Amino acid sequence: MKGVILAGGTGTRLHPLTRITNKHLLPLYDRPMVTYAVEALVAAGLTELMLVTGGTHAGEFFRLLGNGHDYGIDRLLYAYQEEAGGIADALGLAERFVDRDKVCVMLADNVFEDSLEPIAANFASQAKGARVVLTEVDEDEHLRHLGVAALEGSRVTGIVEKPESPPSRFAVTGVYFYDDQVWDMLPTLTPSARGELEITDVNNWYVDRGEMEADVVTGFWGDAGESIDAYYEVNDFVRRMRG
Ligand code: DAU
Repeated sequence: MKGVILAGGTGTRLHPLTRITNKHLLPLYDRPMVTYAVEALVAAGLTELMLVTGGTHAGEFFRLLGNGHDYGIDRLLYAYQEEAGGIADALGLAERFVDRDKVCVMLADNVFEDSLEPIAANFASQAKGARVVLTEVDEDEHLRHLGVAALEGSRVTGIVEKPESPPSRFAVTGVYFYDDQVWDMLPTLTPSARGELEITDVNNWYVDRGEMEADVVTGFWGDAGESIDAYYEVNDFVRRMRG
């Protein structure tokens, strides 16, 4: 299975910090944000990775990660997203790298306490389809800023992006697993109201086929790009864990 880390976008919710650098290069305690996603995928057993980024600071990722060997990566490729066209648009740049392999996609602003290794193993033995990582979130206001999944057992029956009335407490985190059907599906997407190709539309394509499974993590999860408060909450968690 290959790994794809998405570190493009404009990071507007962290302006003005992200006017002078890429969001995923901002510090989380003692290291740039993107290194937590790298570490999470390597710890899950993925050693062939592609990093997708964009904007004016793309070269800094190369300086930080180099060929990836210091991070335990065997093969690290880079792709440049010309415009912030959405998460699914960024994923499309990884098609030739992933080829017909399975893929684990991780948003570079996500931080997990739990290891993703057992979840990657679940997907490795899943015959076909896709898998998402969920986490329980208590506050409706928080759920309104995320994708939220409805479930029947471990099967996902629908995902609503940033719902006014959340259909459950299960938020969709920024880790997604896909089989090779994703490459035939991506070109059929059309931009959402905010002008982006949405990862939730990709996920619901699998949901509609009854091919979307889920795992729920119980340890800390944070999206450090969600707001400046979320950024500091994730910083506090990482500092407690590593300090
Ligand atoms: O973090 C979890 C949430 O991530 C999910 O609950 C949502 O369902 C999912 O849509 C996503 O929501 P966000 O509003 O947080 O997505 P955002 O636009 O902040 O993009 C998240 C990451 O994706 C960003 O840190 C880098 C990458 N990205 C984003 C865009 C728009 C790209 O690489 N290129 C892009 O064009």
